[in-house]
Amino acid sequence: MRPDEFDYVAKILKERSGLIVTPDKTYLLESRLTPVARRRGLKGLDELMSGLRSAGEDLLREVTEAMTTNESFFFRDIKPFDQFRTLVLPYLLDTRSSRRSFRIWSAACSSGQEAYSLAMILKEEASRLAGWKIEIVGTDISTEMLEKAKAGLYSQFEVQRGLPIQLLVKYFKKSNELWQIDPAIRAMVQFREYNLLHDLKPLGQFDVVFCRNVLIYFDQPTKTRVLDNIDRVTAEDGFLYLGGAETVLGISDKFKPVPEQRGIYTTTRSRPK
Ligand SMILES: C[S@@+](CC[C@H](N)C(=O)[O-])C[C@H]1O[C@@H](n2cnc3c(N)ncnc32)[C@H](O)[C@@H]1O
Repeated sequence: MRPDEFDYVAKILKERSGLIVTPDKTYLLESRLTPVARRRGLKGLDELMSGLRSAGEDLLREVTEAMTTNESFFFRDIKPFDQFRTLVLPYLLDTRSSRRSFRIWSAACSSGQEAYSLAMILKEEASRLAGWKIEIVGTDISTEMLEKAKAGLYSQFEVQRGLPIQLLVKYFKKSNELWQIDPAIRAMVQFREYNLLHDLKPLGQFDVVFCRNVLIYFDQPTKTRVLDNIDRVTAEDGFLYLGGAETVLGISDKFKPVPEQRGIYTTTRSRPK
């Protein structure tokens, strides 16, 4: 790949998804974009690269999606989900008791495991939530991942990563070689295509935001911009979850850590909880 072609594709990726690729990641571009060239019936990466400047929206989108890293698994890192059950959920049940509703957002939800993990927790707590209206929204930039999330079909490998066996037995059914999530859990989550770089207001306001393992792919100004965007749709006393390798410190003054709860933040508009 010529340096000017590398620079051009890197610019497209940064503008469209926030992803930063540096020249030492040329191998990644090559390994992920060669299949795109093949699908398009092109001779190879060189032909894809030389056509990129005049490419239409479809191809630019396909290139952007091909470069996203979509790894996810059920109850990833486990602790955030325990904190949700033992700390955040009781807080919401207490503070939202008059309106009896709250909204959770799995931003950058990939193939849906995070959103479905939350849905299973809430299903397990159904007796305390009778009469409550709870929405879980999962969004991602990748339409391919969203299709997988909506289908709710996972391989043996995927259900073995993080999902407790009792929940597998209770909420999944074997369908040929795959595992199909229970329709009741599926129905608790709405999936939508959405770019975190865009105005998020049309999504409405959320009480809890899981935005995990996506900021790591962005540069600092983009992280700040995304956290600003998220702040605008987070309730004053709402919660933000970031991934284990992510923080708001030195990046955003819109969120502050929840004391003694690693990985959870609340807005700086909130009073101490
Ligand atoms: C590594 S996965 C994280 C999935 C899940 N949150 C987790 O922690 O397991 C990152 C996801 O971010 C999505 N993504 C990347 N850039 C995005 C953007 N600008 N807007 C929305 N989603 C984006 C990718 O498509 C990918 O599915």
